[in-house]
Amino acid sequence: MRTLAVFFTALIVCLAALSLAGYTALDTVTREWFERDLALREELAIRAAEPGLEEAFARAPASLSRILDGITRDERILGAAACDPSGRRVAATAAYPSEVGCRAIHEAAAAVGASPSAGWSSYEDLESGPVHVRAFAIEQNGVGIGTVLLVHDLRYLEGRQGTTRDVVLVLFFLVSALAALVTVLAARLARRDWTLGLRRALDGRAPEASHELEPLLRDVRALVEQLAEDRALEGRGGPWSAERLRATLRSHLDGDRIVLLANREPYIHVEKGEGVEVLHPASGLVTALEPVMRACSGTWVAHGSGSADRKTADAHGRVLVPPGEQSYTLRRVWMTEEEENGYYYGFANEGLWPLCHVAHARPIFRASDWDHYVRVNQRFADAVCEEASSDDPIVLVQDYHFALAPKLIRERMPRATILTFWHIPWPNAERIGICPWREEILEGLLGSSILGFHTQQHCNNFFESVDAYVESRIDRERRAVVRRDRGETLVRPYPISIEWPVRWMDGVASVEVCRRAVREELGLAPDALLGLGVDRMDYTKGIEERLEAVDLLLERAPALRGRFTFVQLAAPSRQHIERYRDLDERVRRLTDRINARWGSEGYLPVMLKVAHHEPPTVFRYYRASDVCYVSSLHDGMNLVAKEYVAARDDEQGVLVLSQFTGAARDLTEALIVNPYDTRQAAQALEVALAMPASEQRLRMRAMRRLVSELNVYRWAGRMILDAAELRRKERLSGLLSIVSEGKLSLDGLLPRGPA
Ligand code: G6P
Repeated sequence: MRTLAVFFTALIVCLAALSLAGYTALDTVTREWFERDLALREELAIRAAEPGLEEAFARAPASLSRILDGITRDERILGAAACDPSGRRVAATAAYPSEVGCRAIHEAAAAVGASPSAGWSSYEDLESGPVHVRAFAIEQNGVGIGTVLLVHDLRYLEGRQGTTRDVVLVLFFLVSALAALVTVLAARLARRDWTLGLRRALDGRAPEASHELEPLLRDVRALVEQLAEDRALEGRGGPWSAERLRATLRSHLDGDRIVLLANREPYIHVEKGEGVEVLHPASGLVTALEPVMRACSGTWVAHGSGSADRKTADAHGRVLVPPGEQSYTLRRVWMTEEEENGYYYGFANEGLWPLCHVAHARPIFRASDWDHYVRVNQRFADAVCEEASSDDPIVLVQDYHFALAPKLIRERMPRATILTFWHIPWPNAERIGICPWREEILEGLLGSSILGFHTQQHCNNFFESVDAYVESRIDRERRAVVRRDRGETLVRPYPISIEWPVRWMDGVASVEVCRRAVREELGLAPDALLGLGVDRMDYTKGIEERLEAVDLLLERAPALRGRFTFVQLAAPSRQHIERYRDLDERVRRLTDRINARWGSEGYLPVMLKVAHHEPPTVFRYYRASDVCYVSSLHDGMNLVAKEYVAARDDEQGVLVLSQFTGAARDLTEALIVNPYDTRQAAQALEVALAMPASEQRLRMRAMRRLVSELNVYRWAGRMILDAAELRRKERLSGLLSIVSEGKLSLDGLLPRGPA
């Protein structure tokens, strides 16, 4: 719109200047013509009357009036007067203007050194209007005997000039309108050409005519083709796998190497006796992202937290992983104990973790923790930039440990595509508002190109928080936060998942073997009923509520006493934090209480195993159990629920799932419970233990189909496709702005995505 206004203003100014020049030239020329015409007429009139005038001046002054009347028969001659040589008026026609006196003319002529006899003229502005006065000397034998003054009415000349001006003005408007019309039409045609060219490119057809913009159009066509392909691929469906993810990365992001930033490393090297042992940490984040990195390769930047981590990495903290497979690089970043206490245990896990989970734990915000959090975020952001192989890398920033990193990375690498994923819930604006550094956290995250949450509800909460605390505009239709001069951040739900098939299922023992082995290990009868819980020892997981439900179950169903055992695998977690140590103690006490209440010689209703368990062990337990209970009080997704489903290729086993997990939205065939409602949970466990095999199969089959399709490759693939689309749209907009100043809306040109 602005360009159009500027263009039309320039056009009109040029046309106006042209018209003014034309009008001035026309006016001068017509005036000259008129004056010449006037002089000729006067000359003719006087010459015709000259013999009579000589006679009259010399001998019969009384006849002068009649001769003057004859001269003024020309309608444009207003009047005529005759003056004697002394400058006295001797005769005049009736309409002769009295202001134009003979003496005044003589004096005026004398003042400029002219003699009336030589012929003299001037323009006068009389009350009746402008006039032209001309004096003619009448001579006899070379001696002046009088002067005749002719007064010409010039009003008609003004009329003529007015008409000329009006015609020029009308012409100016007509030409302006015509020029504007022609220009708009030409611009439209040119634009239509572009649009058609792009549409043809989109349809895979060659452009019609080659023109000077052909090379540019070729680039545009290539980008548009890529976009169309992105959408077609997404729409075509088909199972997402490691291969498809790899191919997607190759074809849509030119195989760009990914740099992933996450606090937890996927492989921890620890000293064990004389040697080194590799541990797979109990972390939903690692469960989800490790397969993605194996498929995409690139670099995972993480905290080197293992006792043998330095020893196993090179001087830059780099080590190729997975051990033996070496498909990507793990870049370890080091920190002091003090930094870890402030950044990880302090701000991340005593501040942000309870802030984001509705689990009734008061967040603790210490300024010193925040300072460490800022410094450590900067260090990791620097490490990411060091690992990037180009100035526009794809960076995946993970979780609440790195809320500031997107902005810090963007500052150093403005062209980076930063995909941030927040693995835990995002609370409402009021709750976020209690964080003393809420603006910094939001600003940091808004450095991302795309910000992902598990659910739309978390996205809505984020929009609400941005609306409350950051100056920005929220584009609900595009689901984006737009900030002046700082670009935009797309905010979308991407429910995370697990790999499919899970690598730990490779060569796993049959369900029968697992059932038997686990029961033997636990000292249970071969037909014992087994319940299972698998978590980090965290107060958001509802472990106490879970055990309370087991307690009530045994109270309500005496037949299960002695027959049913609940095994809780609890990975020690964040033990530096008092609240976690308290939880550990409470869970142990509760276990003892239940065991004291319902246990008997050789029978422990609850078996609590607080230890790190490697994935193969966990999978054996999944396969051996009759029911798995996930009782989180609040959880972004919860991948234990999905792993349990993945482990049950026998289509047996029942999942009891808290309604407060993200997973409950997908796994609707689970028995969904409110973990705070102990009676409901106990009842669900009882139903699960009595569920017929056929019903178990139906439910498990449905859940397995869902998890197999909505796997983590799809999660990563969708983010990568969105990132690719974003990158291409940015490049396309850049190209198009060269010719159309960004006025061409891409949305109208690009193919629509699958409905
Ligand atoms: C949650 C977080 C993850 C984290 C995991 C384990 O799932 O969202 O980021 O990796 O807990 O926690 P930890 O503190 O041991 O890394």
